[in-house]
Amino acid sequence: MNATLIKPDIYWIGAIDWAVRDFHGYMTPNGTTYNNYLILDEQITLLDTVKHDFADISIENIRQVVDPGKIRNIVINHIENDHASGLDKIMALVPGATIYITEKGKKGLSRFFDISAWDIRTVKTGDTLSIGKRTLLFIETPMLHWPDSMMTYVKEDKLLISQDGFGQHLATAERFDDEFIECSSVYTLDDAVVDYYANILMPFGSIIKAKISEIQKLGLEIDMIAPDHGIIWRRNPAKVLNMYMNMATGVAALRVVVIYDTMWHSTEKMTLPIMRGIQEAGVDCKIIKLRATPMSIAIKEFWKARGVLIGTPTLNNRMYPSVAEFMQHVAGLRPRNRIGGSFGSYGWGGGAVKEVYDDLKAMKLDVFEPGVEALYMPSPEDEERCREFGKAFAEKVREYHAQFPG
Ligand code: FEO
Repeated sequence: MNATLIKPDIYWIGAIDWAVRDFHGYMTPNGTTYNNYLILDEQITLLDTVKHDFADISIENIRQVVDPGKIRNIVINHIENDHASGLDKIMALVPGATIYITEKGKKGLSRFFDISAWDIRTVKTGDTLSIGKRTLLFIETPMLHWPDSMMTYVKEDKLLISQDGFGQHLATAERFDDEFIECSSVYTLDDAVVDYYANILMPFGSIIKAKISEIQKLGLEIDMIAPDHGIIWRRNPAKVLNMYMNMATGVAALRVVVIYDTMWHSTEKMTLPIMRGIQEAGVDCKIIKLRATPMSIAIKEFWKARGVLIGTPTLNNRMYPSVAEFMQHVAGLRPRNRIGGSFGSYGWGGGAVKEVYDDLKAMKLDVFEPGVEALYMPSPEDEERCREFGKAFAEKVREYHAQFPG
C-alpha cells in the first residue's frame, strides 16, 4: 500500500497486516493495520512507527514522499510493540532525530531498546512543539490503554492522531471511513469499533469519559481522527467520539446473549427453550457457542448486550474449560452495568453453574438467581424450566435496562 495523503503535506505511511489472526491472543478475523504518519514541514516529523516486521514497508512508504534521513522529530504516542518496535530501524536511518514521548513512555522504551545514544525529550499534556507552519499539542492519555499512552493534535489541520483510541482491527485497501465498503469485511465499521473497544478498552470506561470531556474542554476543533489501527475518521469524526462516550457510559442493547459450550449436547439442548423464553418476553436474543466462535467475538457480543446467560456443563466439578477461559477474559476486562445468570447440565454432583455465579459476583456484576440445571440430558420438564428461566431472566433484564441511558 502506498503512502496516502490525508491532509496537505501529511501522509499515512503505515503497513497493512492482512494475515494476522491472533493479535496477542485477541482474535482478529479481519487482520489489522499499523498506521503511522509523516508531516512535511520545516521540521519533518514522524508520528509513531509500526510493528518491527513491517518497518521496512513503512520506511519504503516514507521514501515515496521524502528521504527518511531528513526526519527531524519522531513522536512516539505509545510504546506497545505494534507501534514502537520498528523504532530502532528508523533510528538507524536518523540517529540524530529527537524523540518526543511521555515520561512513562521513555521509561518503558528503555526496556525495549538501548536508548543511551538517543535524544529523547519527555512531554506532558499541554506541551507543544512547533515544527514550522504547524504546532503539535501533546495530550497524555494514561491507561488508554497503557500508562505511557498519549495523543498528538495538529492544530492547524484540526487533526487528532489518536494512537489506539478510536481504532479498529481491520485490514482494508481503504484508508478513510468514507471509502470503507462494508462488504469488504466480515464486520461493519461500527461493529469493528465496538469489537476493539470491548476487547481492549472495556476496563477504562471512566477514564475514557474523563479524557473525552477534557478534550472537549480544551476546545479543540477536530475534523479528522487518525488512529494507529484501521481506517481514518474524516467524514464524521464526531460519530466515533459519540460511540466512545456511549460505550464508556454503559450503553448496551436490550438483548440477552447466551454464551455456552457443551460436551454431549445437553447444555446445548437447554439453549433453545431458554431462547424461546427470552423471545416470549419480547427481548432480543443472540446465541454464541464457544469453541465455534473467536473469543474476541464472544466478548464483543457480551459487551453489546445488557444481559448474559452463561451455559456450561460440569466437568470434574468445575465449569467447562472453554467457559472458564471466557470468564477469565471477561473478568480481566472489568465489565460494568451488565446482569448475568447461568445454566448447564451435569452428571454427578454439579458445581459449574455455582462456579459461574461466584465468578459473576466476584466481577461485581448483577446476577439473576437461581440458575437452571439438568441431569445428564434435559427432560421435557427441564426444557419447560429452561423456557421459564429464559423468560424470567429477560423480564429482569428489561427492568434492569431501564435504569441506563440510551
Ligand atoms: Fe495497538 Fe496498544 O497497541
